[in-house]
Amino acid sequence: MRDLTEHNITDAVLSGFADANDARLKEIMTSLVKHLHAFIKEVNLTEAEWMAGIQFLTAAGHMCDANRQEFILLSDTLGATTIKDLINNRKPEGMTEYTIFGPFYRDGAPELPLNASIAGDIPGEPVIVSGRVLAPGGASLAEALLDVWHSDAEGFYDVQIPALTGLNLRGRFRTDAQGRYAFRTIKPAYYPIPIDGPVGKMLIALGRHPYRPAHIHFIVMADGYKPLTTELFVEGDPYLDSDAVFGVRESLVVPFTRHDSADDAKQRGVTAPFYTVNYDFVMEPA
Ligand code: BEZ
Ligand code: FE
Repeated sequence: MRDLTEHNITDAVLSGFADANDARLKEIMTSLVKHLHAFIKEVNLTEAEWMAGIQFLTAAGHMCDANRQEFILLSDTLGATTIKDLINNRKPEGMTEYTIFGPFYRDGAPELPLNASIAGDIPGEPVIVSGRVLAPGGASLAEALLDVWHSDAEGFYDVQIPALTGLNLRGRFRTDAQGRYAFRTIKPAYYPIPIDGPVGKMLIALGRHPYRPAHIHFIVMADGYKPLTTELFVEGDPYLDSDAVFGVRESLVVPFTRHDSADDAKQRGVTAPFYTVNYDFVMEPA
C-alpha cells in the first residue's frame, strides 16, 4: 500500500473493506468509492474545485436544523430523491403513482367532515376536490384516510408565513361507505423551493430555475394497502416540464376545471369563479 498510483488506489481503498461485518454497507461503500474515484478522474478535479465542493457541503451542513434539511434539498434538485423514489415505489400498471414527499408536511392536521374547507380565511380561488379511493379492481375503499397539504395562492406553505399560527391548508378526510372523499380549498400556485442556501446558489450557477409546478400533496392510507404519498398537479402549469425536483408524473396531472356560474357556486357553498378537480386514487395491496 505504498507508492499508490491513480490506477491502483481504488483497489487499495476497497481492499480495506475486506473485513466489514455489514455486507450491505460493504456493497454500498464499494460502489460509492468506485464511482467517486471515477468521477474525480473523469473531470480531472482541480485543488480549487475539490475545495469548492468541500465548502459547498460544509455550507449545506450549516444550513440544516430541525426545520431545514439542505442535503435532502440537494438530493431533490439532483434527481437523486426521485430515482430513489422510483426504484422503491414500482407499482403495477393502473395504480396511482408515488411522488416526492417534500419538506412541508406537518403531522397532526385535523380530521374534518367530508366537504369541509381547509382554507379558513386564506384568500384564493375556491377549489372543490373530490373522487374515490379504490382497490386495483375498482372496488371502493371505505374509511380510507387522506392527509392533504398544499401551498397558498402565492406559493407559500403555512410554515413559511410567520404571521400564521396553527395548521393552514392542511386537513385529513375519511372516505365514506362508497369510498368517496371531497373537500374544499383554494387553488395552489407554483412556488420556488427554498433558495436561500447553497442549493439555491447551485441552481443559479447552473442556470436553473427553482420552481415546482402547482400541486396538492396527499398521503392516502387504507387498511391492507401500502400508504401512498403523492401529488396532484394543476394541468396547464408553466413548470410541469421543468419541475426543480423532478416529481411530475403525467398520470398525476389533472384538470382544474373552471366554473363561472354564480348560481352553481352558491349551490356548492363557494364563490365564482371556482374550480373542480376529480381524481380516483388506486391503492396497491400491502
Ligand atoms: C414540495 O413539494 O413541497 C417540495 C418537494 C421537494 C423540495 C421542496 C418542496
Ligand atoms: Fe409542495
